[in-house]
Amino acid sequence: MTRRRRTIGRPRLTRRELLTAAFGGAALLAGAAGGTRGTGRLFGVPAVLAASTQPVKLGVLLPYSKVYQQLGEDITSGMELYLASAGWKAGGRRITLIKEDEDIDPQVALRKARKLIESDSVDLMTGLVSSASALAIRDLVHATKTVLVISNAGANAVTRARRSPYIFRASFSNWQTGYPIGKWFYENVARSCVAGAADYAAGHEDINAFKDSYLAAGGRVAAEVYPPLNNTDYAPYIAQMQRAKPEAIFVFFAGSDAVRFVTQAAQYGLTKDARLAGPGFLVEEDVLPAQGRTAFGAYSCLHWALTLQRPENLAFARAYRARWKREATVYAMQGYDAARVIVEALTAAGGDTSGDKAKLIEAMAAVRFASPRGAFAFDPDTHNVVQEVYLRQVRDVGRTLHNVVFASLGVFRDPG
Ligand code: BEZ
Repeated sequence: MTRRRRTIGRPRLTRRELLTAAFGGAALLAGAAGGTRGTGRLFGVPAVLAASTQPVKLGVLLPYSKVYQQLGEDITSGMELYLASAGWKAGGRRITLIKEDEDIDPQVALRKARKLIESDSVDLMTGLVSSASALAIRDLVHATKTVLVISNAGANAVTRARRSPYIFRASFSNWQTGYPIGKWFYENVARSCVAGAADYAAGHEDINAFKDSYLAAGGRVAAEVYPPLNNTDYAPYIAQMQRAKPEAIFVFFAGSDAVRFVTQAAQYGLTKDARLAGPGFLVEEDVLPAQGRTAFGAYSCLHWALTLQRPENLAFARAYRARWKREATVYAMQGYDAARVIVEALTAAGGDTSGDKAKLIEAMAAVRFASPRGAFAFDPDTHNVVQEVYLRQVRDVGRTLHNVVFASLGVFRDPG
């Protein structure tokens, strides 16, 4: 007599019916199409199930060379500090990083992004310092439905006309780092000035945003000067600025460009006669030690400062110093927050990075927390961070120079 296995309560389902009930037709088809290849297992079930327990592959695209090298290093350090505090896990999955050098050539960034998405099959991506890289990879990220958390690059269009449901920005838009200071600068520093910036998307967008509020307040821009990105000799550009005999200069430079511009502006006497100001990257904590007293007194606006007296910032700065034996910077803070966004979204989505990413996107859009910078939340329409912007001045703090926050300019949401 053959023994028949008894089914209790429910009728027995065929394997196909069981799979369809559990995962829906799409999962079944996906499993049947690819999940059995090389595994010898039926209908891809193990692949589907295993997807939720496999490590999350996080593609990191940041500059590890040239003008923005230190920015890339700081973002990475901030990110790793947060991931370590989360035990390198989220939503029940381990997190692994695959890093690539963004370089400063947008075509290189695009090639590296393609490698991360198509060859490494990353589950998510983060990084990008240069606006030019962000603009170059936007269509690839959108077409491949890759969730991307930008941890620096401010290119306005990425969260405006070219926004994508898959792209979140945890750093700033270029508008947010240029516009807020214009009116204050007119009322408190200079009625007319000379503007300057590295000659690429971020430089032009920052100066245009500054001009929007400065000119509306009544200010006059006597000249605009745009040296190339990754420049070494600023002498001809400084001479051009000096010809306008400015009361003040408002400039966008970052990384090694900021060190060279600020030290050479002092060397050639430009900042003896003209007040120095710009978006905070110009005199941020990564470049200030090399600039030394040539940056003393510079005004800037930014969404963070090392000296910001908030409990979350004091804890972050202390932990960063203890782990990396150097001071935190705005870039480190942005990496820290980008990692937190990823961990919190993965946790809320139960580690689900599959399919159309709807669950992950919904979870990410809802992430909000008390950041070292202040309240952090995404604009639901654009996925750009909404945040407070501070006025800072380089002053002596004990025996070292730091950016001291002396006022808040308010909370800024990119106009989108
Ligand atoms: C940018 O290219 O968007 C950028 C680079 C460095 C600092 C700030 C913005």
